[in-house]
Amino acid sequence: MSEDKKTFYITTPIYYPSADLHIGHTYCTVMADALARFKRAAGYDVRFLTGTDEHGQKIQTIAEKNGVTPQAYVDEVVSRIKELWDTMEISYDDFIRTTEERHVKRVQDIFMKMHAKGDIYKSEYEGLYCTPCESFWTEVQAADGKCPDCGRPVEKAKEEAYFFRISKYQDRLLDLLENNPNFLQPESRRNEMINFVKQGLEDLCISRSTFEWGIKVPIDEKHVIYVWLDALTNYITALGYPDIPELYERYWPGVHLVGKEIVRFHSIIWPAILMSLDLPLPKHVLGHGWILLEGGKMSKSRGNVVDPVTLINRYGIDALKYFLLREYTFGQDGLYTNEVMLNRLNYDLANDLGNLVNRVIAMIEKYDGGIVPAEGEKEGTDAELIEMAVNAAERVEAHMDKFGFNLALEEIWKLIRRTNKYIDETAPWVLAKDESLKGRLDTVMHNLAESIRIVSVLINPFLHNTSEKIREQLGIAGEPVDWQDTKKFSIMTGKRVKKGDPIFPRLDIDKELAELEAMTAEQMRIAKEKAEKDAAQAKGGNSKKSDAKAGESGKPQITIDDFDKIELRVGEIISCKKHPKADRLLVSQVKIGEETRQIVSGVAEFYSPEDMEGKRVVVAANLKPAKLRGEASQGMILFADNGDRLEFVTTDAPDGGLVK
Ligand code: MSP
Repeated sequence: MSEDKKTFYITTPIYYPSADLHIGHTYCTVMADALARFKRAAGYDVRFLTGTDEHGQKIQTIAEKNGVTPQAYVDEVVSRIKELWDTMEISYDDFIRTTEERHVKRVQDIFMKMHAKGDIYKSEYEGLYCTPCESFWTEVQAADGKCPDCGRPVEKAKEEAYFFRISKYQDRLLDLLENNPNFLQPESRRNEMINFVKQGLEDLCISRSTFEWGIKVPIDEKHVIYVWLDALTNYITALGYPDIPELYERYWPGVHLVGKEIVRFHSIIWPAILMSLDLPLPKHVLGHGWILLEGGKMSKSRGNVVDPVTLINRYGIDALKYFLLREYTFGQDGLYTNEVMLNRLNYDLANDLGNLVNRVIAMIEKYDGGIVPAEGEKEGTDAELIEMAVNAAERVEAHMDKFGFNLALEEIWKLIRRTNKYIDETAPWVLAKDESLKGRLDTVMHNLAESIRIVSVLINPFLHNTSEKIREQLGIAGEPVDWQDTKKFSIMTGKRVKKGDPIFPRLDIDKELAELEAMTAEQMRIAKEKAEKDAAQAKGGNSKKSDAKAGESGKPQITIDDFDKIELRVGEIISCKKHPKADRLLVSQVKIGEETRQIVSGVAEFYSPEDMEGKRVVVAANLKPAKLRGEASQGMILFADNGDRLEFVTTDAPDGGLVK
């Protein structure tokens, strides 16, 4: 790749691996992918970064609920996120995980640079915190006790912490937002942010000491670096900043594509961090809207999400990508319904594009033995089609310069519909009946083949699989897809076309709607059940009442061999204390024969440490050891759930004995 190529660096937000991603996350990544492919086609040296934001209180809590370490939890979810992007053939160049060594070390370097600059100081934080958003708020900002971003309740937080002197950069930030209209788009977001800065910026708390799952503050190991400082810097740590500057120097500054609720972090906090580091600011922050469901925002915990994998399995990658890019207007929220999606697939993909390709290839096979003829006699109607075809790329480029994905696709579809109309106008089946009109028929077939070829290049950045399928049918599969070829209209003569399977089969909308509804209902049922189970576990029990009969707990039947894998032993709780960092948990020392083990139990709402001491209980002794909020736990004390509270399962048997 030549060194003097213009570069283009595009990023998605790094996703929280708190749960599997839904169609809303997919939307953002699909746009970034289309932009990356589009810029590559336009000759840029592109770098496309995505990744996962793996630290923070939210992840730690979810992992605890699932009884695994945060690292094990995120490893599992991240592998599914990567699988999703691979399935969707997302063309990212790098995937950064904030738990990777390369990131951790560089974040610490960045912290130290800001500290050396005098921009970080230690003080005490007292205010409100929204754990799902991992954001701090003042009493004024969250006056109703709810997070201004997501509407969920905020919690009081008071702790010693490090602060970033963001107030120092207030004037420069205002200047950036007010005097660079292209920096933050769309305009409506820019005005919101200008007002936010004008209200005055308080110094930002950038460390936490009440949980451990994060990057340690290098000068004070009791603190972890605030997850947003950790996360935002991914855009430069992934480029090797500060220690391996090669990629950084080549690609920074970049363009950030983000959802509207995190625009504030990207257009205020992130530029301030860069100012503190004396680094160039991002070229653009592009804030997109949300995909909403009829009931409001998608939420995994409420069980109302649209799963991209279901749609891909049923309709294909390009169908989903087309729908996302075509249906929604950049910067605005949009509604998702199965019906809107299915109609898009049927009308635009099956009818307009699929039919066009089918008809043209079939006609060239029928009238010309499959070989695209050279032009013969021309007529007035040809010029209109040719003009539209060879100029389409320019119009697509103009829309893409303004991130108008839907308008760019609409421009291509105008050409597709115009080509369909050209078939109706020229009526090749009539021309074919009269030998003297063969010259005219040749021109029509030639123009149709050229027009479809141009479409195959134009759609390539958006729907590369479909583009390839069309090019196979046109007999040019192996040839390079060159954007400049959209401006030529004389390439197809002599090519051998070959009919293939329909590129988008027509769907029976009523049948599909019924199927999708049944699938969604099932997914929601499973998600709700899981959410209820998680909530019950978080309360320290499980949701079944104590009078449940054997086999009614919802657990599958097991064999004696399965049961034999569990080692249950009698233990005596010799001492117990409250968990230093978690109100729900108690930490007990349990004597099991010769051995004494530490076990953490989620029963503080039912028992005091004194209640626990002296009890002789049953312990699951071969459970994999775990750390719960920093305290090691080697086993599990069993309790009986009576629906309202957890009761001890006590025994008179001496400690150490095997329960079988
Ligand atoms: N981890 C942070 C981002 C850190 S970037 C330095 C985060 N993660 S997230 O997983 O919660 O969200 C990632 C992106 O997905 C956000 O840009 C968000 O707007 C987007 N979406 C999540 N749900 C969405 C919809 N329903 N619709 C469109 N985009 C949505 O925030």
